[in-house]
Amino acid sequence: MKTLILGAGGQLGRELQLSCPAGIDMVAATRGELDISRQEAVLAYVADCQPDVIINAAAYTAVDGAESKPDLALEINAEGPGYLALAAARCGARLLHVSTDFVFDGSATEPYDPRSETRPLGAYGHSKLAGECRVREILPTQSLVLRTAWVYSRFGQNFVNTMLRLMAERDRLRVVDDQVGAPTWAAGLAKVLWSLLEHPEASGIYHWTDAGRCSWYAFACEIQARALALGLLDSEIPIEPIPTSEYPTPAERPAFSVLDLGATEALLGRQSTSWQDQLQAMLEDLKAHPDEE
Ligand SMILES: NC(=O)c1ccc[n+]([C@@H]2O[C@H](COP(=O)([O-])OP(=O)(O)OC[C@H]3O[C@@H](n4cnc5c(N)ncnc54)[C@H](OP(=O)(O)O)[C@@H]3O)[C@@H](O)[C@H]2O)c1
Repeated sequence: MKTLILGAGGQLGRELQLSCPAGIDMVAATRGELDISRQEAVLAYVADCQPDVIINAAAYTAVDGAESKPDLALEINAEGPGYLALAAARCGARLLHVSTDFVFDGSATEPYDPRSETRPLGAYGHSKLAGECRVREILPTQSLVLRTAWVYSRFGQNFVNTMLRLMAERDRLRVVDDQVGAPTWAAGLAKVLWSLLEHPEASGIYHWTDAGRCSWYAFACEIQARALALGLLDSEIPIEPIPTSEYPTPAERPAFSVLDLGATEALLGRQSTSWQDQLQAMLEDLKAHPDEE
């Protein structure tokens, strides 16, 4: 099965390449190789590649940056997936598209079901929701949208890598304690995307994160404890829980964005792994690859 990955230079794109199963003929394109916001380029590239499946891990992911560049976010997160869907339709390919918990407003108290009402709080969430809609309109049965949240890996800029850097540099940290979500190791997410190839009948919206929930503060404490135990940090620093009001950002974030995984777990026939176990695995992965970014 020929599979084309877009956004190959990102954290999910890189993990997808590392976990590509045997028997898959994989083509992975970075932004430099294919800019998904250029319609003609997308149509030509996909027509030339003739994939059976396209996995879109490309996105404009700067949540705060999107507030000042909403048009750019829409081009990449909404128009781009639409072009991919059109290109997939032309060659009969299936499209797996990745989306976000930021399509929700965070007012829920129970995990969001894939059918829960969407109401993005910011420009990034709006652009991602628009991308979901484009994909589903153009490819109603041959597409699957997988929403996820709080993604990190040993690659690139993410909460875990940022915390490890700050914990090494500073003598104390203040971390938001009133936003609750589910951290998700990109390597596990990548394996789920590959598993979804075994279910060509599945379409529509699905959710996947690591299991459980926590605040950013609790996540930071767990990162520090586990990094100390692994020798990734030398000494402990105090971490203070703070409310969101004390850490203003350009984009408003959902206060609660835990996703209900039931449908995806039922489809795949397995439960998600706890976020603590996945964090441990990521930190061990990081320790095993000290020179990679
Ligand atoms: N990170 C999170 O916490 C999070 C949470 C929920 C959902 N998601 C979703 O998960 C997916 C993967 O995210 P990630 O964390 O792997 O993001 P990432 O590390 O920022 O990777 C995104 C990749 O997309 C590329 N890209 C940006 N604009 C592009 C364009 N016009 N054409 C082609 N490629 C382009 C980026 O290239 P450059 O770096 O060169 O710009 C980057 O390599 C995205 O759909 C994202 O919305 C992420």
